[in-house]
Amino acid sequence: MDHLIEKGKNATMATYSLQPVEVPKIHTRYRTIKTQLPVPESLPIFELLSQSEPRSMQGQPPIVWHAADDITISDKWGNRWIDWSSGVLITNVGHGAKEIKDAIRKVVDQGLIATYVFVHEQRAELTRELQSLAPDPNNYHVFLLSTGSEATENCIKLSKTYALQKYGPKKRYMVTFENAFHGRTYGAQLAGGNPHLKKWIGKGDSSFVQVPFPDGFKNEDVSFDLFLKTLRKRKIDPKNIAGVMTESYQGVGPDFLPVEYAQKLESFCREHDIVLSVDEVQAGFGRTGKMFTFEHYGIKPDLIACGKGISSSLPLSAVIGRKDIMGLYPPGSMTSTHSASPICVAAALANLQLLKKKGLVQNAAKMGEILVPEVHRIRNKYPVRLGCAQGKGLVAGIQVVKAGTKEPDAESATAINVKAFHKGVLMFAPVGIAGECLKIAPPLSITEEPLRESLRAFEEAVDEVLG
Ligand SMILES: Cc1ncc(COP(=O)(O)O)c(C=O)c1O
Repeated sequence: MDHLIEKGKNATMATYSLQPVEVPKIHTRYRTIKTQLPVPESLPIFELLSQSEPRSMQGQPPIVWHAADDITISDKWGNRWIDWSSGVLITNVGHGAKEIKDAIRKVVDQGLIATYVFVHEQRAELTRELQSLAPDPNNYHVFLLSTGSEATENCIKLSKTYALQKYGPKKRYMVTFENAFHGRTYGAQLAGGNPHLKKWIGKGDSSFVQVPFPDGFKNEDVSFDLFLKTLRKRKIDPKNIAGVMTESYQGVGPDFLPVEYAQKLESFCREHDIVLSVDEVQAGFGRTGKMFTFEHYGIKPDLIACGKGISSSLPLSAVIGRKDIMGLYPPGSMTSTHSASPICVAAALANLQLLKKKGLVQNAAKMGEILVPEVHRIRNKYPVRLGCAQGKGLVAGIQVVKAGTKEPDAESATAINVKAFHKGVLMFAPVGIAGECLKIAPPLSITEEPLRESLRAFEEAVDEVLG
């Protein structure tokens, strides 16, 4: 399952069976399951794909998406799921928002579907809007790109460029965290924290160094001292560090930084003039009940990598960063062909307006008060098999382990995931360090009734597998 491998897991996970099975019929306001799953008529589509695509594109529960509306996903055969995936934490404002579709139509009807970096009017609106979200808007600029990986790559490049220009070639280290995920491109994988994922790189680049992440479960030492000790052990002098980059929560958990740790990390970076980048590609735009997750820590990153929920739809990403760092490259030398594609920009603008208009950041915080205690309650029913549960706002995760150990149990996690799928709750394949983490990430537009309904269905799935 490539999804698992991608997020930092080993390559031995079970795949989803394409053998249709009878499942109990369900019909509620939000969920309908009326066929065998997978739907027998859908199998030729999977077959066609297996003939024309690499297997890396497989690995999700076997549904063929046909339409998606707010918090539900439907197939062509009358089945409908409550979405706990948001794609992969993309659709923060809900699927298929009318305002986003209208904005896309409008720019298409205007006759503008590609511009390169020639100026179009909405680009200025979007950069202005994103700038206003920065910790200190007057001191930040915004660079638009297409994917999250491009954004994190850009953070690496800018950190190293800043250090090189100001201090020379010795200040070259990029410090990131074990179990981190920053994307799939070369630099993003060098910065990533799962050795399995970067075997293909071979010896790599000695200037990329990972230190333990203070998650409290996989690594119990959450003190900032461990960060300093690890650097000393690796013989890295802080003055030679160009940049530190961390996800504001690690996607494998979700695992959050202790506030004190985050603040000490920021002070450390200030003391040694190290560029501090926060990867908000997954965590940004309201997911944890604040616009950006770093706001929970009371820190001011120098560079903020954004993606996914920035548009809730089309591929758009951004780096929001300190002006002096963002300005290191002269005109024409830090661009990308699809930077600020007018259709993606229109979608992102409509998305940001919707987030505000509907109060979805606040809704994520409010719904989190239901979701997070519930995942802890479910976890506490099986403390020997469910190693830990965590969450904030509308992202949560439960880690399935072999009885009484911390050893990942990907098989049971997949079994629960499949049961939930059969019950009309769609999660993406388990993540974590080895496919053991059941991750919950509905659109931020979910309300109490479907949230509680989906939690009940999920709990049944857990009971059926572990009970
Ligand atoms: C934290 C984080 N950073 C970066 C990325 C890469 O984003 P993309 O897949 O858009 O390149 C992801 C994607 O899952 C992510 O979760």
